[in-house]
Amino acid sequence: MIVAPSILSANFNNLNEEIKSINHGNVWLHCDVMDGHFVPNITFGACVIKNIKKDFDLFMDVHLMITDPYKYAIDFCNAGADLITYHYEAVKEEDIDKTISYIKSLGVKVGISVKPNTDIKVLDKYLKDIDLVLVMSVEPGFGGQKFIDSALGKIRYLKETKDKNGYKYFIEVDGGINHETARLVKMSGCEVVVAGNYIFNSDNRKEVINDLQNI
Ligand code: DX5
Ligand code: ZN
Repeated sequence: MIVAPSILSANFNNLNEEIKSINHGNVWLHCDVMDGHFVPNITFGACVIKNIKKDFDLFMDVHLMITDPYKYAIDFCNAGADLITYHYEAVKEEDIDKTISYIKSLGVKVGISVKPNTDIKVLDKYLKDIDLVLVMSVEPGFGGQKFIDSALGKIRYLKETKDKNGYKYFIEVDGGINHETARLVKMSGCEVVVAGNYIFNSDNRKEVINDLQNI
């Protein structure tokens, strides 16, 4: 699997070294952007991503947990995002298509994320057009929460739908990932795992990343 360490769990006073410590093999850098409105927490914005991208040749996986992704997507794109994932719940149904094509027009990949209580089938009509689906296996807002099992059924559904229709999207899961939950999501068809606490709290980050990559 592709592993996407979430810098939300990093020490921001030493971000350069923290990123070096997780830069092993094919990793994406998962950047959790929170606005204190869509979720009850505030993190960082485009300037942090811009500075990281200057020093690291990493795939920047930007997870926007914000109320107005349409308005701010351009800032993250200019900062060096390679993938911008926004939340289905943040955008009015009639604006979902417009937001997908707008983000694509900026020259980056586009993903849509669903919270644990959102039915995965709401994405059916968009699946042919997007590059990634991000299944939240915790309530967005904080790292270090317990994996919610209902994510597994969503991943299986996405995998079956992808195979049946020849769709191209990646299936990514975010929240509560450790060795055991990574094994479960992989068996269900997941291709990219986000992990924050499990990687950054470990004594041997390289080994943990390598283990997740080889599950
Ligand atoms: C939560 C974030 C996650 C978080 C995952 O809202 O989207 O990316 O960093 O953290 P862990 O892996 O600790 O659950
Ligand atoms: Zn995230």
